[in-house]
Amino acid sequence: MKSGARVQFSPQKVEALVARRQRILQALNGGLLLAASRPAFHKYDASYFRYRQDPNFYYLSGLYTEDQGVVLLASGEKPQSILFVENRDDATEIWNGPMIGLDGAAKLGFDRVFPMDDLPRVLPELMQKATMLYTDRQHHPGVERILSDIVFRQRIAFDGLEVRDFWGFLGDFRLIKDDFEIELMQTANRISSAAHRRCMQDARAGLSELELQARLELEMKKGGSPFTAYHSIVASGSNTCCLHYNVNNCALESGDLVLIDAGCAYEGYASDITRTWPVDGRFTADQRLIYELVLRTQKSIIEMVRPGVRIPDLQEATIKLLTQGLIEHGVIKLSYEEARTNDTFKAWYPHGVSHYLGLNVHDAGRYVVEGQRRPLEPGMVITVEPGIYIQPGCPYADSRWHGIGVRIEDDILVTAQGYRNLTDCPKEVAELEALRS
Ligand code: GLY
Ligand code: MN
Ligand code: MN
Repeated sequence: MKSGARVQFSPQKVEALVARRQRILQALNGGLLLAASRPAFHKYDASYFRYRQDPNFYYLSGLYTEDQGVVLLASGEKPQSILFVENRDDATEIWNGPMIGLDGAAKLGFDRVFPMDDLPRVLPELMQKATMLYTDRQHHPGVERILSDIVFRQRIAFDGLEVRDFWGFLGDFRLIKDDFEIELMQTANRISSAAHRRCMQDARAGLSELELQARLELEMKKGGSPFTAYHSIVASGSNTCCLHYNVNNCALESGDLVLIDAGCAYEGYASDITRTWPVDGRFTADQRLIYELVLRTQKSIIEMVRPGVRIPDLQEATIKLLTQGLIEHGVIKLSYEEARTNDTFKAWYPHGVSHYLGLNVHDAGRYVVEGQRRPLEPGMVITVEPGIYIQPGCPYADSRWHGIGVRIEDDILVTAQGYRNLTDCPKEVAELEALRS
């Protein structure tokens, strides 16, 4: 019998985890941080949903598969990082596969490792010494269970201990990627780019969106990614105008555009790529006009990316470039002022041009700090994803434009000098057409 391989940790990974925990411990300033793994989620019958780890627990522990574990970072007099995991158990391993166990957990560079059974003893001791507990009480059922157990079952009072949500605090660390994370995000992007390219080559009239999704995700799995970062959007024809279309149940038709917004997760890190191209391998003149406007805009916005620029600056420039372009080409029959009045432009461009990317596809990290829109910094990874969607029935454009939806999305690392585009996937008209000639 061949069971799942035991998890291995590379020295680079352990080094990155140790350095990350040390940075956070220094910033905790007497506080205690608690992150718990995501509990396995039982279906209505005897099976479980495919397990996905809590991103904050993963960020601190490096453990993707343990569904019962806790990380404590205790600053104060003697700063220490502590990991709690389940003891290995033959019966559990027969049903669910290898567990990390205390011996495996000892290789992750924590100062101390305990079995989960010790948590009700060790945690209250640390809580009594701390003035601040950072955790995820609101969104995480496991954390609420741990805290109520201590406060209610053990009847321990923690006067003077403030409990604070850690998403802002921890998110600001997650937002700036270290070299190890950047390498993983580059790999995720390489796998996803290859999967998009496969679909560009395979698309044909008569093929279903669902089969195209299967071919896309097969390439991702072959590349070494077990998960997509989010549900793949595979939209053809006027489905391209639905931003989060994901039923993927129509057939591709001759003359349609196809829009795929999909990315794999690699070692937990998301990629988020959108490409739009013609089913027949050739754009019609109208499709090409809209496509080239989105492409020109995307390239201009990417050129703006550098430390100090703010995401709202990128959004403002995008609205202007897309809307002025549509008006100049006679697609939208309004003046620029009319298009800006009451956000009328949202009829064809209703979303943001950028978001943070990392362990979550819309990643952690604050967009506003002390009331100010946050400037970009080296180490952030953001998307740049302008789009135009002329909805069927759009009152501002002739019917010949209706149902054309185009989005182009790349993943961009902010560097000290400017940016590095992590996405390497065809997007020039000539490249897309050449793939099918
Ligand atoms: N795929 C979701 C997004 O682009 O934000
Ligand atoms: Mn995105
Ligand atoms: Mn996307």
